Amino acid sequence: MKVVLASCDRLPSGDGDEESFVAALERDGVDVSWQPWGLEVEADLVVLRTTWDYPDRLDEFLAWCEKVPTLANPLRVVRWNIDKSYLVELAERGVAVVPTAVVEPGAEPVWPEGEFVVKPVIGAGSRGAGRFTGHAEARAHLAALGVRALVQPYQSSVDAHGETALVFFAGEYSHSFHKGPMLAQGLAEAESGLYVEEKLRGIEPTPRQVELANQVLDVAAELLSLQRSDFLYARVDVVEGADGSPLLLELELTEPSLGFKLTTEEAASRFSKVVQAAASRS
Ligand SMILES: Nc1ncnc2c1ncn2[C@@H]1O[C@H](COP(=O)(O)OP(=O)(O)O)[C@@H](O)[C@H]1O
Ligand SMILES: [Mg+2]
Repeated sequence: MKVVLASCDRLPSGDGDEESFVAALERDGVDVSWQPWGLEVEADLVVLRTTWDYPDRLDEFLAWCEKVPTLANPLRVVRWNIDKSYLVELAERGVAVVPTAVVEPGAEPVWPEGEFVVKPVIGAGSRGAGRFTGHAEARAHLAALGVRALVQPYQSSVDAHGETALVFFAGEYSHSFHKGPMLAQGLAEAESGLYVEEKLRGIEPTPRQVELANQVLDVAAELLSLQRSDFLYARVDVVEGADGSPLLLELELTEPSLGFKLTTEEAASRFSKVVQAAASRS
């Protein structure tokens, strides 16, 4: 059984988080290797991992995804999830989402009261995300982005409590980790050029967070006419709203970091098993 983990030229062997997962696959005798996206690839399963440079080469990335029949998550899921306006679709179906408006290039948004965030609809690693209070500054950022963007009120709970990432494998909850606040005033700077460095640790989610994450996966699966178990991996990032209840910030079905370094070996084994099951079905 051959499994390829898709990376990018700048991080050809991943970012170091997946060592325990790779070791678990190897223990089970799987031929597992890293390969930057864009090249021809043949494997029982090609798992999108650290493909984090795609926002700059989006058409090329999607064209490559189209040529990989054994892609996980599958192309249909990637196409839907790569554009953060899915947040509006989820909100319309009753999911508690951070209030989100989509702004077309050149359009003037209705600015939220107080602090707010402007970020491209297609983006990863906090790149292009800015935190503003002044409309002129935010307008300049929108113009500099030059693409469709999201405007959201800044959730100030993030400064104190950060966000919680709940990880699911084949639709089943696995583990969680915590991410500190990413945005100072103005625009987030990525030293690596790929992602803004994150402060991470393991965490136990609250029952309400788990409940929201489960709802998010159910609604997303329904929107895509899939079963939850069809999502090989999913990460649901939640923050605390003003009244303390959890809100969805991001549903990551494309190339989420899965936080293997922040959890137990069992999580790596669980993912290894679902990867092998998916590879044997393909
Ligand atoms: N509305 C918001 N309120 C508070 N913080 C935010 C908000 N939107 C984004 N952030 C911060 O910016 C980071 C990146 O934004 P996110 O929507 O997760 O995009 P991505 O991780 O895909 O770049 C988040 O981890 C969070 O720290
Ligand atoms: Mg994020």
